[in-house]
Amino acid sequence: MKLEFTLNHKTMLLEDLADDLLLLDLLREVLGLTGTKRGCDTGSCGACSVLVDGKLTRACRTPAAKVAGCHVITIEGLRAPDGSPNDMQRAFVEFGAVQCGFCMPGMIIAAEALLLKNPTPSREEIRKAIMGNLCRCTGYQQIVDAIEVTAQRRAAIQKGG
Ligand code: FES
Ligand code: FES
Repeated sequence: MKLEFTLNHKTMLLEDLADDLLLLDLLREVLGLTGTKRGCDTGSCGACSVLVDGKLTRACRTPAAKVAGCHVITIEGLRAPDGSPNDMQRAFVEFGAVQCGFCMPGMIIAAEALLLKNPTPSREEIRKAIMGNLCRCTGYQQIVDAIEVTAQRRAAIQKGG
């Protein structure tokens, strides 16, 4: 099949893809974007999370054909304007929210999806939003801290104009 979509702000036109290709395989195997992780491969861990038109999406359960005409953002597409890690990524490091790091791309994508919908979430709302993203290392506390502070910092910047 042919597939036209936007990936991390760039238009992609791909040909000769298998009709049953999954989005996760398209990203990792065809395009070499290995930031999106393969965890359970069954839709239960959240490691493969990406944004499709701003919505949190599990790439391991999404046919690549479904993203035709959509804008897909992977962890590689989240950058500050100068190409360095963005404020959310830096906050995760600052708060010690990253240990082995395997869950992090999916976790950060889930956090960005939340702030797109709800820029000022409560801690409870943050916990709920990342419930589908499993982390075996951190105990989640620092992850919630990092997301909360990023939301607060973004709100302060907005307010300051
Ligand atoms: Fe997709 Fe676990 S790899 S949810
Ligand atoms: Fe290791 Fe989350 S930091 S799984």
